[in-house]
Order: sequence, then structure tokens, then C-alpha cells
Amino acid sequence: MCGTVGMFVGCSALSYCPRSLLAAHPVEPSDEAPEDRASAEEAPEYRSAFQSWYDRASVRQAPRRTILEDDTALQFFSPDLVPVAQHPLVKGLPERVFNAILVQHLYRYLDFTAKLEYLVVNRTLVGIAHGSTGVRVPEEMRFDALKMYCDEAYHALSAVDLRRQVEHHSGVRAQLPDEPFFLRRLQQILAELPAEERALAELLFVVISETLISASLAEIPDSDDLVPAVRNSIRDHALDEGRHHAYFAVFLRHLWAQLLPRERQFAGRLVPKLMDAFLLPDLESLRTELTGYGLSADQVEQIIAEVYTPEVLSRHSRATSRMTRRYFEQLGAFDDPRALAELHAHGYVS
Ligand SMILES: [Fe+2]
Ligand SMILES: [Fe+2]
Repeated sequence: MCGTVGMFVGCSALSYCPRSLLAAHPVEPSDEAPEDRASAEEAPEYRSAFQSWYDRASVRQAPRRTILEDDTALQFFSPDLVPVAQHPLVKGLPERVFNAILVQHLYRYLDFTAKLEYLVVNRTLVGIAHGSTGVRVPEEMRFDALKMYCDEAYHALSAVDLRRQVEHHSGVRAQLPDEPFFLRRLQQILAELPAEERALAELLFVVISETLISASLAEIPDSDDLVPAVRNSIRDHALDEGRHHAYFAVFLRHLWAQLLPRERQFAGRLVPKLMDAFLLPDLESLRTELTGYGLSADQVEQIIAEVYTPEVLSRHSRATSRMTRRYFEQLGAFDDPRALAELHAHGYVS
């Protein structure tokens, strides 16, 4: 742990250390203009999406989203967005169990959100704000990173608050793994990389997460059947993430302009695996959950095999990652045949 950023946010959760990325670029962190390292053509001009942040950010203006007693007759999560809820074996379960499956899906989503924000995204944001990631950005971008740092902390708080309220009102206790699936996958990917590549990989994961998350939040329907606190909390998050998406699309261009050719090649080849870490479902915890409802091991395997077919998984991944892939494509990240092969291998090219 370097002590620069880690002392505030706890580096032990992941291998990312701002200084290790810095070490790859023999330039001292300073307020030096980004043009010093990248051509004007590659490093875009920055137009902040955060000009009205004080009036519009959820952390500044949204009320606490509270579940009322009357709401509990409504659904805690939309069955249309819970893939296993479409399977006949699951539809045939008692209503109490079927509703518990929707609630556990919500818990997994909220746990994913909270831990993504405070364990991963905010580590990078504090690094950008502090100027210690090794990527030079305009001062305005460093300032906006602090605004996003507040946003993400609030998203984590809202997610944990909502999970606690749902547990209280539904009586369904959250069954969650110690670490969400995406974090285990990310840690595996990082562990397999040489130490000097890990900081860049984690930075890429944050760019990918922040440009993918708005597409995944857009799936939440504005249905009156859903508990309003859940619906509104997700909407609050989606509005903030629209600004974050715009920021990280620009941040990627700054990052790319400052990478060496071999680092760009490394990045292009790693992107599909990092997108998978964000997008693939946690089938392991789903198996454990379904088995707990009295379904046999064969029935559980049948449900998972029939719901999460390779075609369904890759169709969802392709649709959700469309914008993220486009940003990397525009930078030539997939021009390298091995990067393109990885994209194919992970189902991102139909
Ligand atoms: Fe967020
Ligand atoms: Fe975000």
C-alpha cells in the first residue's frame, strides 16, 4: 500500500495503487497541462457535465427513499428483469417463494452497487481528484472527480439503506456472498496479471463500469407495480450516472492519449474480460439460493442452463456494452487482431 490514496480508502481490498501506474510514466504528478503528454487531437477539450451538480445531484437534492407500510403489497423488483423468474419451474413455486426470489435479486443488485461504488470506483475517483493516478487531466476534471466521489458515496449509502429497509419490510433476510461476484472476478483478473499492469487494469475496469452502468440502469421500468422507494432510488442513481458516463468517455480519451503503444495493446486485449467481470451474472450464488427453496440439484441446473444460455448471455452483454465498445473502438483498441479475437471469444461480436 502506497499511503497516498490507500490510507483513506483501504488499498487492501484490491491491488490498485496509484503510484504503480505513475511509475510506468516517468513524469512527476503536477498541474502540468495534458497537452504536454498528448497531442491536442488525442486529448479532448473538456466540457463539464457537472455545471449544475449542486442543484441536480441526488446527494444534493433527492429525498431519502423510504418504504411505507402500504407499499409492501407491491413488488420489490420487477419479475421481467429477473431472468429465472421467467422459467416454468420457478413460476410454479409458491407465491411466497417466488417473491423471495425477486427480493434476493434486488439484494444482489444493491450489494453489487454499494461495493462497486465504495470499494472500486471511489478509489479511482479519489486518485483522479488527488492527481495520483498517473493520468493527467484538466483541473476541472479533477474537481468533477470529487463531485462524483460524493455521488458514489451517496449511491452506496442509498443501496445499503434500501437493503436494510427491504429486509425489515419483507422479512426476507439477504443471502449474499462475502464478496460480490464482480469483485471476485476482478481480483482473479488482477491476480493473473504482472504487478506493474494491475493499476492500469483497475483504471480500465472503472472506465468500463462507469460507461456500462448507465445502460444497465436504463433497464429499470417505470412501473407502478414496483415499490416506489426502489423505483425512485434506481432513477436517482441513473440520473447521476448519465453525467458519470459522459465524464468517463472523455477520461478514457485522456488516458489513451497518454498510454504507450504496448499499454494500448494490453488494454485492448483486456477490455472484453473486464466487461465480462461487470456483466456476467453470479450463477454460483443463484444455485445456492435456488437449492435452498427445495428444488433438486437437477432442477436447479435445468433452470440455469435454460435461462442463461450462451446466446442469451452474449446478447445481453453485446446490447449493454454497445457504447463502451464504441469508445474503445474509436480509439483503435480493437485494431489489434488479438484484441479482436478476445472480443469474439467473449461473445461481444455476433
Ligand atoms: Fe454510482
Ligand atoms: Fe458512477
